[in-house]
Amino acid sequence: MISYKDLGLVNSRELFAKAMKGGYAIPAFNFNNMEQMQAIIAACVETRSPVILQVSSGARKYANQTLLRYMAQGAVEYAKELGCAIPIVLHLDHGDSFELCKNCIEYGFSSVMIDGSHLSYEENIALTRRVVEYAHQHDVTVEGELGVLAGVEDDVKAEHHTYTKPEEVEDFVKRTGVDSLAISIGTSHGAYKFKPGQKPEIRLDILAEIEKRIPNFPIVLHGSSSVPQDIVAEINSYGGKLKDSIGIPEDQLRKAARSAVCKVNIDSDGRLAMTAAIRKVLVEKPEEFDPRKYLGPARDKLKELYKHKIVHVLGSDNKA
Ligand code: G3H
Ligand code: 13P
Ligand code: ZN
Repeated sequence: MISYKDLGLVNSRELFAKAMKGGYAIPAFNFNNMEQMQAIIAACVETRSPVILQVSSGARKYANQTLLRYMAQGAVEYAKELGCAIPIVLHLDHGDSFELCKNCIEYGFSSVMIDGSHLSYEENIALTRRVVEYAHQHDVTVEGELGVLAGVEDDVKAEHHTYTKPEEVEDFVKRTGVDSLAISIGTSHGAYKFKPGQKPEIRLDILAEIEKRIPNFPIVLHGSSSVPQDIVAEINSYGGKLKDSIGIPEDQLRKAARSAVCKVNIDSDGRLAMTAAIRKVLVEKPEEFDPRKYLGPARDKLKELYKHKIVHVLGSDNKA
C-alpha cells in the first residue's frame, strides 16, 4: 500500500471547500504521458493554480500504473523546482469497478471517481457506497455520478443526455457519503459535442435546482472542452480531417465555475491543441524526425491552452 500522502499529493476535500467559497473551479486535466504532465504542471505553477491530475483507466493501461504513480510523484517535485508547491490531486477518472478504485488507492491515488451512472439508481448507490467506505479509511476522496452524459468515455458510448434529476441528489449524496457529485446538465464527452447549427447550452437551471437541494456541495462537470474553432481549423489546414463541431462555450463554464461547480474536466481540447502543433511541424518541416521537435511545440501549445482555461474560464489562478 502506497499512501498518496507519502508522495506529496493531497485529496480534493480542502481544495473544493476553498473553491466553493471563492467562486472558482479546480482544473481536472487528463494525462497519459510526460509532455502532457509537464504542460499541466508548468501552466499551473505559472498561474499559481491548484490542479487535479486525472487518469482514465485507458490512460492507466496505456502508460502503466507504476509509471503514472511515479510521474505524479515527479509532478510534485517538478512543481517545487519550478518555484511553487501547488496542491496536486491524483484522481482516477471514470472508475468502473470497486476493484479498480481500490487498486488505484493502493497505488497512491488521492481521489477516485466511481462512475455508476450507467447502472440503476439503487445499484449505483450500492457500488458508490462500497467505494466510499474503502476510500475514506485511507482519507481518499470520492466522486460519484448521477445522470448520463452524451458522448464517448473509454468504451462506453451514450447517444443522448440523461439529465441529472434534482430530486435524487440529496438522497444519493446522503446514502453514498460521496465527497463530490458529477452531474449531467448538457456537457458531453469528446470533440463532437454539438453539430453546426445546434445551440450549445448547459442547463444552469438544473444546476441551480441541484444547488438548492444540496447547498454548498461540490459539483463536478465532465465533458467541458470548448473545441476551439481556431485549433480545429489549424488541424484541418495541415491535413487533418476533423468534422465541424461546437463545444461548450467558455462563458457558460465561467458561470458554472462561479457556482457550486468545483471541478471541471477538460481532456479533448488538450488533445486538439497537441495535434494541431504536431501536424504543423510535420507539414512545415517534413525533414524533421526528432520527436522533441514536434512534441516540444505540442507541449508549449498545451501549456498556453491550460493557462487560458485557468485564468479565463475556471478562475483558479492565484489560489494555490
Ligand atoms: O472522459 C474520458 C476522458 O476524456 C478520458 O479519455 O478514456 O480515452 O483516456 P480516455
Ligand atoms: P472532454 O472530452 O470534453 O474534454 O471531457 C473530458 C472528461 O470529462 C474527462 O472525464
Ligand atoms: Zn468524463
